[in-house]
Amino acid sequence: MTAILEMRSINKAFPGVQALSEVTLTVERGQIHGLLGENGAGKSTLMKILAGVYAPDSGEILFDGASVSIATPHQAQQMGIVTIYQEFTLVPHLTIAENVFIGREPGVGAFLSWGRLRDQTRAVMDGLGITLDPMTPVSALSVAEQQMVEIARALSMQSKVIVMDEPTSALSEHEVHQLLDICRDLKAKGISIIFITHHLEEVMRVCDHITVLRDGRNAGSAPIGDVTLDNIIQMMVGRSASELFKRTQSYATAETVLSVRDLRTAADPNNPNKTALHGISFEVRRGEILGIAGLIGAGRTEAARAIFGADRFEHGAITFEGKPVAIRSPLDAIRLGIGLIPEDRKQQALFLALAVRENLSIAALGRLLHWINFVRFDAERQMVERYRQALNIRMSGQDQTVGNLSGGNQQKVVIARWLAMEPKLLIVDEPTRGIDVAAKAEVHQLLDELASRGIAIVMISSELPEILSMSDRILTIREGRLTGEFQRAEATEERLMQAMALSGASASS
Ligand SMILES: Nc1ncnc2c1ncn2[C@@H]1O[C@H](COP(=O)(O)OP(=O)(O)OP(=O)(O)O)[C@@H](O)[C@H]1O
Ligand SMILES: [Mg+2]
Repeated sequence: MTAILEMRSINKAFPGVQALSEVTLTVERGQIHGLLGENGAGKSTLMKILAGVYAPDSGEILFDGASVSIATPHQAQQMGIVTIYQEFTLVPHLTIAENVFIGREPGVGAFLSWGRLRDQTRAVMDGLGITLDPMTPVSALSVAEQQMVEIARALSMQSKVIVMDEPTSALSEHEVHQLLDICRDLKAKGISIIFITHHLEEVMRVCDHITVLRDGRNAGSAPIGDVTLDNIIQMMVGRSASELFKRTQSYATAETVLSVRDLRTAADPNNPNKTALHGISFEVRRGEILGIAGLIGAGRTEAARAIFGADRFEHGAITFEGKPVAIRSPLDAIRLGIGLIPEDRKQQALFLALAVRENLSIAALGRLLHWINFVRFDAERQMVERYRQALNIRMSGQDQTVGNLSGGNQQKVVIARWLAMEPKLLIVDEPTRGIDVAAKAEVHQLLDELASRGIAIVMISSELPEILSMSDRILTIREGRLTGEFQRAEATEERLMQAMALSGASASS
């Protein structure tokens, strides 16, 4: 039987970069095919060519055995190729139902049938095990829920090949599990899935076959049974996992930098996804990496935002370097020397139309503090170059627009920006989401270096292995309350999970 999809000798250049060189990809019917590679390797570009978003410079695409040209996204969709993009494409002010059926609402002529729209959306969502009301506006959904809506939209189309570009990067463990089950169901129906992820364990769990890209070229392709995790890392980055950074030393001192007492926030009637905090108290010390583990929605991000002055809190006291402080805005926090690398980097953190150079240096050079006229361009360029090297940011030049960087490289720019600020306390919320294995190790190494210089770090992460490998001390949070504290030596994945879990453990509240 012929393969459902063959991409042959695909070439694609952007100004300043050869994004793809002679790339080949063969996907069988009913196959879950992992497409892997470092940030900027060309994965999304290859998939955008398949989706009719970009035209290749040269190369051939065979679909169902026949040579095809895919000129527009609409054409790709008609052929049964559906893509769930790395960047969300939902329309925030429309409802879930409208988003799922956007452009092809069931109804007669111009008359939109709300009833049918709702019922059909309900049916797709039931299949996914999503219990949201289809009439909810997308703007009220969490990142994970929005991702589920994207998936529902793809499933509602008659697809033969579904491309998922980093579908799990914003999902909780439970939701990931659900998604992988959905992938297996689709596969059983003969649908092929091209699965892009930086979570290599997921690849081992669900993929039948992998293709690895490196610097825009094929670096290997194999049935999953023929490779180990280390083989894959080797193909992706040319190094073995054992050569990547691992934290071995603690720099924690006894000196408290930040102390938070009884932090409480109210529930937000306009945003049901916001978790109220019910009295959070903790300290962070100079040189310490404090891990905060919790499920999505446990209140981790809310605590970070409240401390950073991004959200108001009703009650509580913050002491910074021994002095009581009032942090009413992020500007107050930055002035004190507190940095926050937010979870939702795309929406909150980047100025997509500006150049990498400007994005990277905004916090560092105090643009927020109105020093704009005094920016020294040579100093700025040097600093950008230093972080480009440290984090291996792939860009054609400092003046490249951030919006044209690969997803993972955009993340690195945000991280670099806050690192460049050299804060006294750095809060990092999901610091390595969407980042490849090698870059992740680079981010970890940089955090370790900051800690060694006495910077206190609060690291929020959904990935327990990351929390366990990086933290000197770990707090667990559940429903807006701290539920456990563990020293590095006594923490295990099981113990953390137990303290994070919503049910089971006897309620301490
Ligand atoms: N529209 C564009 N204009 C200019 N350069 C681009 C554009 N899109 C992608 N590139 C460049 O092409 C290269 C490949 O990017 P691509 O987004 O395909 O990487 P990726 O493998 O998906 O990475 P990630 O894992 O970070 O998402 C990168 O160097 C990127 O900067
Ligand atoms: Mg990408």
